[in-house]
Amino acid sequence: MVKSLRGMNDILPPENRRYERLLAILFETAKAWGLEWIETPILEETALFKRSVGESSDIVGKEMYQFIDKGSNDVCMRPEGTAGVVRAFIEAKLDRAGGVHRYFYSGPMYRYERPQKGRLRQFHQFGVEVFGERSVYEDANLILLAATIFTRLSIPYRLKINSLGCIKCAPGYRQSLCDFLEGVEGQICEDCERRKVTNPLRVLDCKNEACQHLYRHAPKLSEHLCEECVSDLATLEAILTRHHIPFERDPNLVRGLDYYSKTAFEFIADHGLGSQNAIAGGGRYDRLVEMLGGKPTPAVGFAIGLERIVELMGEVEEKREGIWLGALDPEAIETLIDFAQALRPRYKAVVDYTPRSMAKHLKNADRDHALYCGVIGSNEFATGTIWIKNLITKEERTLPITEATKELTW
Ligand code: HAM
Repeated sequence: MVKSLRGMNDILPPENRRYERLLAILFETAKAWGLEWIETPILEETALFKRSVGESSDIVGKEMYQFIDKGSNDVCMRPEGTAGVVRAFIEAKLDRAGGVHRYFYSGPMYRYERPQKGRLRQFHQFGVEVFGERSVYEDANLILLAATIFTRLSIPYRLKINSLGCIKCAPGYRQSLCDFLEGVEGQICEDCERRKVTNPLRVLDCKNEACQHLYRHAPKLSEHLCEECVSDLATLEAILTRHHIPFERDPNLVRGLDYYSKTAFEFIADHGLGSQNAIAGGGRYDRLVEMLGGKPTPAVGFAIGLERIVELMGEVEEKREGIWLGALDPEAIETLIDFAQALRPRYKAVVDYTPRSMAKHLKNADRDHALYCGVIGSNEFATGTIWIKNLITKEERTLPITEATKELTW
């Protein structure tokens, strides 16, 4: 038997109900924030991710699903959504249109990681990207959106925030960090040696204890921020406090992708996920549009990992709805098909094409979480009626079919 690939899951009952509820809440909340739904391809040129997510990242360094296609193109299954959205934004010349553009998307992402609880090779993200808004108010706006989503889902979270500095102050810090790293040459891990060249900032979130021990003496990013970065961070913190969003400043939060500047944030769930406990991450990436060939455009966004959220969601109680229709004899089946069609799309209506006993139909209706069970026997067939039972109130009625198409509200 052919089996699914390691780290790639099917979404089947009963989890599918949680996904459906989650997507409904995500779409609804995104719309309330004035975001527009978009979709970009799963497959993109590899160069796109190398230039945006960055050579220093584990994603580009080790985890890409990269291959040469039949036309000899070097392509990659998207490991994240931001790069594709930025590419699409520039390609559609929206960077030249001016104004503020707010988008959301949802779909599968691919990273060749070692699968474990909460870490898959195909996983799903709900992402948000906003272009054209320089104000830190937008950073706050998006953090409030993510926090509202988690609150609606009753998922407790911890929010970590940091500022990575802007074009004015980040290079100075980078230089002093590089000087420091020169001083500890030969003592840091292989990954940090690589990051030292590609994106020195990323050494700060190295998981290696020996490295962390050394970095306690490294220059502090927070002490190198310019006035504007300091004041923007203070504004963000004030808004979060006013909205009772619990947060902590984490000076080592640098995020695993290279495109960030200024605000960076991560939502963590402390219980129920084990070590893979980041449920959302994002931040500002004011230089990425320009780096990918577009007109300089400030941008900010985040993405939520859906599998991790589904793991944390309680069971979704299935609401009884619609009608389950069955017949005792074969001659009534087509009447039921016509009746179902008259009820839809106002009501969910499902027809069983096999004649069965009344008890069996009631049992199947119950299993389908139907609100009503409608059955036609020989008497009903002869008189053009249908017997209907409300499975919550237990009330039973026999009605002419023509009337029943109008009132299923008891
Ligand atoms: P990210 O932090 O790499 O950010 O991913 C966002 C979320 O995706 C994580 O917090 C986690 O919940 C989920 N996730 C990541 N990898 C896996 C995996 N292997 N298995 C299951 N879930 C996973 C980004 O991808 C950025 N594009 C976010 C962003 C949007 N920044 C600005 N705009």
